[in-house]
Amino acid sequence: MQEAQTHLPDGFHFFPSFLDQAAQNALVEDIRGVVAQAPLFQPVMPRSGKPLSVKMSNCGPLGWVADINGYRYQDRHPVTGTPWPAMPPRLVDIWQQVADCPAQPEACLINHYGEAAKMGLHQDRDEQTFDAPVVSISLGDTAVFRIGGTKRGGKTLPITLNSGDVIVFGGPARLCYHGISRVYPDSSTLLKGGGRLNLTLRRVTPF
Ligand code: SIN
Ligand code: FE2
Repeated sequence: MQEAQTHLPDGFHFFPSFLDQAAQNALVEDIRGVVAQAPLFQPVMPRSGKPLSVKMSNCGPLGWVADINGYRYQDRHPVTGTPWPAMPPRLVDIWQQVADCPAQPEACLINHYGEAAKMGLHQDRDEQTFDAPVVSISLGDTAVFRIGGTKRGGKTLPITLNSGDVIVFGGPARLCYHGISRVYPDSSTLLKGGGRLNLTLRRVTPF
């Protein structure tokens, strides 16, 4: 059993209940519009081809994909071959309120977690710049997020993320290991089909 890290890293900011119910509903409608054009797809791990437990889509000029060839950003949906839908202005607004960054986000990764989905500890490091933070928005079922340090295998601190919560990791926290150790099924009624949506906004290219 690992001991929990006792303090959050510098550059990590937690905004509980950042979005009220109306803002959450509006964002869900935006995301429904996005996935109608760019359906959720099943990402797999490079080399092994093992499926991740989440399903994904993206909006914005670039989108993050995971397939047998690797992890990367690309401007098109890997299944339909069409450009990603535009980033809804509501997402850009949230970025402008919390990111403390002069540049616009270029990618919004949409992760959908069903009942048994998790995400192993990892760093977000496929971007060409780490000068912008990652902004992460939680909608739907409650999850346990874990944040550690910048080295693999260190201690992690659990943070419960509820629908409407926003976290930002930038500066010294930009490359911290993080993941989702569990999702509590049916803990929210926001999403008609249940589950959890996580939206991560990122800058990919230097600015
Ligand atoms: C991620 O690290 O890509 C997702 C984190 C989350 O689902 O809250
Ligand atoms: Fe991540």
